[in-house]
Amino acid sequence: MTIQWSGLGPELLLSMDRAGGRPLRSQLETALRDAIRTGRLVAGERLPSSRELARELGVSRGLVQECYAQLLSEGYLTSQAGSATRVAAGARSVATRPSPVRTPVPRLIADFEPGVPDLASFPRGDWARAVREACTSAANADLDYGDPRGSLVLREVLAGYLRRVRAADADAARLIACTGYAQGLVLVLRALAGAGVRSVAFEDPGYGSPETSEVMRAAGASGLRLAHAPVDDLGIDVAALDASGARVAVVTPAHQSPTGVVLAASRRHALVDWARDTGSFIVEDDYDSEFRYDREPVGVLQGLAPGHVLTIGTASKALAPAVRLGWILAPPDLADAIAAEKLVSDRGSPTLDQLALAALLRSGRYDKHLRRMRSVYAGRRGLLIAALQRHAPAVRLTGLAAGFHAVAHLPDGADERGVVAAARDRQVGLYGMSTFRASRASGPPQLVIGFGNVADRAIEPGIAALAGLLA
Ligand SMILES: Cc1ncc(COP(=O)(O)O)c(C=O)c1O
Repeated sequence: MTIQWSGLGPELLLSMDRAGGRPLRSQLETALRDAIRTGRLVAGERLPSSRELARELGVSRGLVQECYAQLLSEGYLTSQAGSATRVAAGARSVATRPSPVRTPVPRLIADFEPGVPDLASFPRGDWARAVREACTSAANADLDYGDPRGSLVLREVLAGYLRRVRAADADAARLIACTGYAQGLVLVLRALAGAGVRSVAFEDPGYGSPETSEVMRAAGASGLRLAHAPVDDLGIDVAALDASGARVAVVTPAHQSPTGVVLAASRRHALVDWARDTGSFIVEDDYDSEFRYDREPVGVLQGLAPGHVLTIGTASKALAPAVRLGWILAPPDLADAIAAEKLVSDRGSPTLDQLALAALLRSGRYDKHLRRMRSVYAGRRGLLIAALQRHAPAVRLTGLAAGFHAVAHLPDGADERGVVAAARDRQVGLYGMSTFRASRASGPPQLVIGFGNVADRAIEPGIAALAGLLA
């Protein structure tokens, strides 16, 4: 894509050899020609003004003007009176780097991709206001490298939020800001591996396997042995977890991903007892806990056993994945090790973004957005149930009490992958449960239906287009 510079002139890296005796004008011409031929400068891209480039290179303005005139006459550059000199269309005669072929993505009637919140509802105005506030109120010292755990302002605001909304045992010293759950998990697993833990168990279904999921590949790279424990209607099977020999369990208790079940009270206690009795750790993925429709959300497990549970939260579901902010709430003796991993990884998450999130939380607009989104998702959930009843009454839906995905159980013997492929042919995006399983071959045919990022008006036609396919 051509960069359409606006306002001030762009910078351009060109080097001149003053010792070699080659005339500067010929060097500049060659350097500009090469930059265009090799694609460093692309068609339409604006060049610095002759005055700017002359100052930059320490040569006379006349020399740059002569150079530009030469390249204009050769057809490398174009210039219209009153506008900047640009790289001419078609100037790059030698195609050294073929432009990537874009396969057109067919427009879908509806894409029921799980895990994506309603991107159209991102509170752009509130976020812009929060970014502005962060930028104007940040102290100069905030712009330096900071504490790898992140901005103290955000960590204090978050600690209050997690105590208030998630009944967490939280304080700023044990919080580490990170780049979403994806990074949070890696930092936690590395710190646990450093503390002597050897294996980690994931829910099955859950993140799938290293073949299907980058999260599992990243977990494998932490050096820990990967194990799985099955999930049933009550959540993770704690006896199977114990039998796996793992000393870390990664779980989604508030809303199991992807089955949608909520970890039953008896299992919550069994899981915490397992961690206490065996000296193990629970990594609690608290990804979409704000969205619960049948009753009040249950608090985090971390509140029950702060010495054994590490809770990872994210702004990806409540706001949007592009925000790339998350947080880890860790036991005191692990918080420093996680902060050390964060320092090695990237020296800390962007402070201005953290201050913006703190401003959004403090203003009450984050909570207001959540309230609005709860009613949006509850409405979509209702539309999905009604559309399935009309067009595919044989399909049973489960896991609807929270979040923005549900599981559709296909009739026994149905070909899950075949249904997904046939739906694509009908311009509907469907996603099979098998990609979430530790072994793709196991388990009954099911679909994980996301309804977060499907417009209300697309749900009915999307399901109607599947008529006959899901029966
Ligand atoms: C189960 C689960 N947890 C957490 C996340 C959020 O990840 P991140 O914070 O890296 O965007 C996702 C994203 O889809 C998810 O599916």
